[in-house]
This record gives sequence, C-alpha cells and structure tokens, in this order.
Amino acid sequence: MKLDQAKRDSYRRIAKREGYRSRAAFKLMQIDKKYRVLKRNDVVVDFGSAPGGWLQYISKAIGTKGFALGIDLKPVKLIAENVRTLVTDVKDSNIEDKIMERLPKKADVATSDLSQSLSGIWELDVARQIDLTSRVVELFPSILKKRGSAVLKIFQGEGFDALLDRLKKDFKSVIIVKPPASRPQSSEVYLLCRGYA
Ligand SMILES: C[S@@+](CC[C@H](N)C(=O)[O-])C[C@H]1O[C@@H](n2cnc3c(N)ncnc32)[C@H](O)[C@@H]1O
Repeated sequence: MKLDQAKRDSYRRIAKREGYRSRAAFKLMQIDKKYRVLKRNDVVVDFGSAPGGWLQYISKAIGTKGFALGIDLKPVKLIAENVRTLVTDVKDSNIEDKIMERLPKKADVATSDLSQSLSGIWELDVARQIDLTSRVVELFPSILKKRGSAVLKIFQGEGFDALLDRLKKDFKSVIIVKPPASRPQSSEVYLLCRGYA
C-alpha cells in the first residue's frame, strides 16, 4: 500500500472512531488547532458542508452559545442544537438574504470546503472550483463582519493568483495553508484570511 493511501485510510479510521462524518473534518481541525480561528460563541457560515464533518467540528469549537449555518446542494443530517443547515446553491441570486435571515448577526467566521464532482479535466475542475470560491468571496460584504476571518479551500491553477490578490486587498492577512490531512498530491490548499476590512 502506498504511503498516501495508508494515510488516507488512517484518517478514515480515526474519523469513524471519533464519530466524524468525513475525514475532511481533520483538515479544518488541524488548521484551527494551529491558527486558532474559531472561538467560543462565534457565528459561523460553512459553505459546502455536506455530509457535515466540518460542521461537527465547528459545533464543538463554538460551544452551545455559538451558532453555525451550513450551506450545501445536498441535505445534511442533524448535527447539534447550535447548527442549522440550508439546502441551496451558493450561486442562487438571493442567497445573501437567505443567509442573513437565519443568522443572529453577521458571521465572525466563514468557512468553505466547496467543490463540485470532479470531471477529471484539470482545467475545467480548477475553473469550476475557483468560481464557487469566488462566489463565496462576493458574499462577504453582506454576511461577514468587519475584522472577521475566513478559511477557504481553493484549487491551485488558473485564477488562483487573481483571487488571492483580491483577498489580500479585502483582508489584513492572507496565508496559504496545507494541513497534513490534505493529500500532498492534491492541488487543494486553504486560504486563511484574517481581519476583514
Ligand atoms: C468536499 S465536500 C464538503 C465536505 C464537508 N466540508 C465535510 O466536512 O463534510 C464539497 C461540498 O460542496 C458542495 N457543493 C458543490 N457545489 C455547490 C454549490 N453550487 N452550492 C452549494 N454546495 C455545493 C457539494 O455538494 C459537496 O457536499
């Protein structure tokens, strides 16, 4: 068995043992443990949340007085009292309103693990994924509070630099993070953005 496959299997086993719905949960967990993004009582919007691994982690990190809203094309099974979910397309024209109707206030943190099913055509998959992430970034003026943070999955390819440049203007600091649970060969990285202007 290749080392990478062994590593993936081991994350799958740990996810199962610890009751997480996806091994993706470890990516956010590792980012948060290192950079301390999520705080008790935070309001969080999680884009691309099914089956719910990130939401499970977020729910614990923000505590019972925090609130998280998960958004996905697919339904997410009930997570906890402090989590609500919305089945919709991030590209829906009135999604800002749908989100703000459900939040107690603008979000402290926005997270996105959005990606569509992969076609296998590299350029197309990158373009689609970056398009989804850009859509999330367009929503920030309506849904993210000033000085808020974001953790955004993004594929490295055509369009990556342009989105990174835009985020560097919108946030005080942006760093590129590759958590150990993300496969080294995968083109995905996470942008950790802090201090929304
Ligand atoms: C990698 S999965 C997310 C895994 C999740 N973070 C977890 O821990 O369980 C990516 C998700 O993005 C969602 N997605 C893709 N395109 C979308 C769109 N246009 N609107 C909303 N969700 C979308 C998919 O349905 C999928 O559930």
